[in-house]
Amino acid sequence: MVQARKWIYAHEFEDQPRTSNLQLVTENISDTLQDEEVLCEAVFLSVDPYMRLFKVAVGDVMQGEQVARVTASKSDSFAVGTMVLAKLGWRTHTIVSDTSILEQLPPLGELSASLALGAVGMPGMTAYFGVEDILKPVEGETVLVNAAAGAVGSVVGQIAKIKGCKVIGYAGTKEKCDWLKNELGFDAVFNYKETTVSDSIKEAAPEGVDCYFDNVGGEFSSTVLFNMKQGGRVAVCGQIAAYRYDGKPQTGPLVYGQMLAPNKRPSLLCSRPSGVWADAGTQ
Ligand SMILES: NC(=O)c1ccc[n+]([C@@H]2O[C@H](COP(=O)([O-])OP(=O)(O)OC[C@H]3O[C@@H](n4cnc5c(N)ncnc54)[C@H](OP(=O)(O)O)[C@@H]3O)[C@@H](O)[C@H]2O)c1
Repeated sequence: MVQARKWIYAHEFEDQPRTSNLQLVTENISDTLQDEEVLCEAVFLSVDPYMRLFKVAVGDVMQGEQVARVTASKSDSFAVGTMVLAKLGWRTHTIVSDTSILEQLPPLGELSASLALGAVGMPGMTAYFGVEDILKPVEGETVLVNAAAGAVGSVVGQIAKIKGCKVIGYAGTKEKCDWLKNELGFDAVFNYKETTVSDSIKEAAPEGVDCYFDNVGGEFSSTVLFNMKQGGRVAVCGQIAAYRYDGKPQTGPLVYGQMLAPNKRPSLLCSRPSGVWADAGTQ
């Protein structure tokens, strides 16, 4: 037997997610494996903004990707010690019968395997394809990104710098702003809690913005959209300012929710209190 732990989504979010929404449960799972099965032990769990939006049912294990180590195996494809990436949720141990859901990590040398959940995982790919396929910035252009110290935004800014762009970033603490400016080399960084978006754009990009990578939405986006250059491009990646359960109507570009999750929106609306997204798109 293996003593395992898992986080259950125990109570519906009411405003922002809190620890009290979750419950840590201990369970004993058998370590006797059937042919082709493997036992995975979590090394890193991911916490991502989408978990607020695309919620699991109350009582289910919290969803999410994890980096795990195979600790017992009856599979020829996954030897004991293999590091894998898989959507196993917030649990310490998982018996996996269908090993096609496991993605073997390449040797990472000195690098932390946690990168598979960040810069070289889903958030990094989101940044890469949002910049390369949607924004297509060229040298000398101005790229603006919010939630810039996050998993996605920090990669967006670094790719844009590699391409020779002027990068403007926004974050919510001094430590994050210092990191973006001093470590990642952003050209201008603002704490959006201490300055208005409008004033900061006037200061850092008086000529306007060529590329806007939007992780936040809301009033932030409305302001940036009025400061785009002719021919500017917008990547609608996320709307974290709207991932709330307080019943307050969304502010900012109302169409963005539809652009972000076009086909899933009706079911999202059913699973959340009204007013979290504005109703404009469903009428
Ligand atoms: N389209 C896709 O496929 C896709 C994939 C991945 C992520 N996303 C989206 O991309 C965005 C960033 O994801 P991530 O993984 O980088 O998140 P993350 O690493 O968890 O960072 C999120 C950061 O957003 C900032 N934030 C939270 N609420 C805010 C608000 N009301 N106004 C302004 N900033 C706020 C906070 O930073 P501060 O301390 O700086 O405020 C927070 O730490 C999210 O909207 C997410 O849903 C989309």
